Amino acid sequence: MSAYLDHAATTPVRDTALAAWRDAALAGGNPSSLHGPGRRARRAVEDAREQVAAALGVGAAEVVLTAGGTEADNLGVKGLWGARTAADPRRRVVLASPVEHHAVLDCVTWLADARGAEVVWLPVDADGRVDVAGTAALLERDGDRAALLTCMWANNEVGTIQPLAEVVALAHEHEVPVHADAVQAVGWLPEAVGAIGADTVAVSGHKLGAPTGSGALVVRRGTALEPVLHGGGQERGVRSGTVDAPAAAALAVALREAVAEQPDQAPRVAALRDRLAAGLLATDPTAVVQGADPASGGRLPTNLHVTFPGCEGDSLLYLFDAAGVAVSTGSACRAGVPEPSHVLHAMGVAPLLARGALRFSLGRTSTDADVDRVLEVLPAVLERARAAGARSRGAVLAG
Ligand SMILES: Cc1ncc(COP(=O)(O)O)c(C=O)c1O
Repeated sequence: MSAYLDHAATTPVRDTALAAWRDAALAGGNPSSLHGPGRRARRAVEDAREQVAAALGVGAAEVVLTAGGTEADNLGVKGLWGARTAADPRRRVVLASPVEHHAVLDCVTWLADARGAEVVWLPVDADGRVDVAGTAALLERDGDRAALLTCMWANNEVGTIQPLAEVVALAHEHEVPVHADAVQAVGWLPEAVGAIGADTVAVSGHKLGAPTGSGALVVRRGTALEPVLHGGGQERGVRSGTVDAPAAAALAVALREAVAEQPDQAPRVAALRDRLAAGLLATDPTAVVQGADPASGGRLPTNLHVTFPGCEGDSLLYLFDAAGVAVSTGSACRAGVPEPSHVLHAMGVAPLLARGALRFSLGRTSTDADVDRVLEVLPAVLERARAAGARSRGAVLAG
């Protein structure tokens, strides 16, 4: 008996998306070639682009196909910076939420280190939610020096949904373009990407049931972007590289289905998540749910993030894994070494408590049996994790 509760890392591929990928791969042809097979591949890409655009509520000309969310984030953040600073060299400030995924965060710190950007971090509250009034004040102060603002739509660790439309409206008052990482939000929130108004928006296929290596950056009409990849000038010169027709076809199918299923799946998965939360807290009343209150509607329906005092998150992860339950600590792991979570840090969670963090993330294939399995193995997992935690603290004291 096993349970997969790591859908935020990647979610199982849909048969339909795989079939679309296979059909396009077998059809062959380079979409840039002028002969029949090339033209057919081009038609498949443009059909896929239209479906992606329709699912996101944007125009087809606004969809730039990428090889995933990380690439889309890089193109959005670095692309906006390049174009904006070229047009107005005085704009050297990057306003950024401190709870961004590393795909954005590391672009921002790279811009600071390599390009001389001045980073201004947006204030967040104890739930990891960007403070709108604080953002407005920073824009008043720095808006006329800002090249861009970057704010994710929903957080990958704690599931908190950001007041993105409000942040975008404020930034636009100061003519500051906004990049939004929508990788975790798309398919789970009712609003369309197009309704949010951000200038660039990153989407990742493998979080929706397409294969890894598929994604898109929405670039709103009239938004200037400096390319990151140079070469054959594909995707209107913004993203060179042979367009991946199978990935585009699979992304279109997965995205269309995810968006169509959202009204049914979001409440179903939220109810599973809430049952899991209630069971965890009943088993361990010292556990703390981090991030927005699930009942507030300010949290992804897929996300439950819990800190267990006296435990190490990675011990919990390995003990759960041994019991057939796949979960995550939620924060980055570099070369196998767990890093303290910058998200929990920004939320003001005490470092010792942050070490006991575990993220359960659900998706369209999640069932009651998954929740049952977690709750069944939880008492033994906690007991062993606490014993290991006590031993390592004892060793530190003895040492
Ligand atoms: C919020 C967020 N942004 C970006 C990414 C990166 O996407 P990809 O894995 O498609 O490169 C992830 C993946 O975990 C994510 O959760």
